[in-house]
This record gives sequence, C-alpha cells and structure tokens, in this order.
Amino acid sequence: MTDYATIIVETRGRVGWITINRPEALNALNTQVCAEIVDAATRFDADEGIGAIVLTGSERAFAAGADIKEMEAKSGLDMLMGDHFGGWTTFAAVRTPVIAAVAGYALGGGCELAMMCDLIIAADTAKFGQPEINLGVMPGMGGSQRLIRAVGYYKAADLILTGRTMDAAEAERAGLVSRVVPAADLLDEVGKVADTIASKSLPSLYAAKAALDAAMETPLAEGLRFERHVFASLFDTADQKEGMAAFREKRPPEFTNR
Ligand code: CAA
Repeated sequence: MTDYATIIVETRGRVGWITINRPEALNALNTQVCAEIVDAATRFDADEGIGAIVLTGSERAFAAGADIKEMEAKSGLDMLMGDHFGGWTTFAAVRTPVIAAVAGYALGGGCELAMMCDLIIAADTAKFGQPEINLGVMPGMGGSQRLIRAVGYYKAADLILTGRTMDAAEAERAGLVSRVVPAADLLDEVGKVADTIASKSLPSLYAAKAALDAAMETPLAEGLRFERHVFASLFDTADQKEGMAAFREKRPPEFTNR
C-alpha cells in the first residue's frame, strides 16, 4: 500500500516524514489512518536509508483522538473482536527512532500516538489531554499506562479523570514533551533533530531505542542486564571501531551502519 488517502509520506535525506492529513476531522484516527501510518512506518523501518521517522499533523491538530464517529455505535465485543487499536502495537514496535512533531490538539488517541514515539517535540500551540472520560469511556490506546510512566501517577490521574487539557508549557514541565519550540519553527527544528539522529549508526540507534523501551517495560535488574548485553554487542560493529577511532583522531565519524 503506497497510495495513501489520509497521510502524506515523503523522504528527506535519511528521514522519513509521515503527515496525518484528515483536516475535515482534525486528523481523528480512524481505521484507515491507523492502517496507513502503520504501513508507512513499517516501510521506512525496513529501509536502511532511513535513520529517523517524523510523525506530524497540521498546525491545528496533531490528532484530535480516535475517530468518535467511527466508534460510536460499536459494542464492547466489536471493539475487542475487531482488535480496534491493535495495529498501533506494530507502530510502537518500529526499531527506527520516531519523533512526534505536535502542533495544536494531541487529544485522546492523538496524545497516545505521540506517546508511542520516542521524542515529542511540541509547538507552543500544542494541547495535550486524555478527554475520553468526557465521552463516557477512558483512554484505550495506551494512555492509562504510558502517561503515568511519562508524568507520574498524580498528573496522569488529574488528566485522565478530569478530561482537562494541558498546554505545551505544562506538558514540558510535566515531562511529557522533549522540547517546546515556537509554532513557526516546529518543522524546521524537528527536521534538524531528525537529521542529527539519522546521522548516527543504525545498529546503535536500534540498540539504544530497544534499551529505552526495555526501561519502560521491565524491572531495573532485568533492564540493566539487557543494557549490558546490547551495549557489549555494539563492540562487534564496524561503526563502534569507526566512532572510537574518529574520537581519537579528532575527526567526525563516518558510519556505514555495519
Ligand atoms: N473524532 C471524530 N471527529 C472529530 C474528532 C474525533 N476525535 N475530533 C474532531 N472531530 C471533527 C468534528 O466532529 C468536526 O467535524 P464536523 O465539522 O463534521 O462536525 C471537525 O472535526 C472539527 O472539530 P470541531 O468543530 O469540534 O472543532 P473545534 O475547534 O470546535 O474543537 C476540539 C476542537 C476541542 C479538539 C473538539 O473537536 C473535540 O473535543 N474533539 C474530540 C476530542 C476527544 O474527545 N478526543 C478523544 C477521542 S476518544 C479516544 O481517543 C479513545 C482512545 O483513547 C483511543
């Protein structure tokens, strides 16, 4: 599938860009958007020429949530049997670092989608929240689990139980976003960060992302064991030899992803 209807996909250097493009619904995440984002991200992930992925939306909305109109009539069994949000597990598992570039609304599934990414760079216009409680439901794409890990129990409970939104400054104070930049500079700044990440050695990027993921999922002792092993494994790459030789020779490294 490369003929996408709800996203725009492009490659800039070693960075794959995915722009959610459903302006009529503030980029609400319906089944088709999910399938297309997962397909595009998986293709970028399989491409050695790609070292970072950017996921973004519009100036008005990163994504205003899962598509309420698509879900409204479903039963609990429909949601389970249809594995309604199952595709996102594949997105969250891509090896390549993913940056969410967030302007405007990142609500419900939109906030949850941003939290599936490795960095969240927010415009000063960004608004984050889990307003599902206002709809008589609760977060369903990871919000009740990932938000706590990002901002701690009490801030997460405040957002999830009241359904209020927080602005970019509060989100940065809470630890939900990596950086906040002026809205007009968002894509340029994200492009620079993505280029920086994509210039590193792929094996070390994959290993570092896997270790970061492990930290979210495992007890400390297990995570430390995993880290020690993946760290050691990088010493069998040509890029480790190149990176350390370049340091000693006081020159930039030339990585080959080997
Ligand atoms: N699903 C479907 N359509 C949506 C949508 C969503 N999540 N969010 C916005 N839209 C649609 C609106 O229905 C509207 O369409 P129409 O013009 O056809 O009526 C269009 O996008 C523009 O939206 P508004 O007119 O509402 O724009 P606004 O500027 O007045 O308000 C907003 C913006 C505050 C974001 C408001 O749209 C809103 O509250 N959206 C819903 C936010 C929400 O509840 N998200 C959680 C969804 S549930 C979820 O995500 C579950 C989960 O955990 C996975």
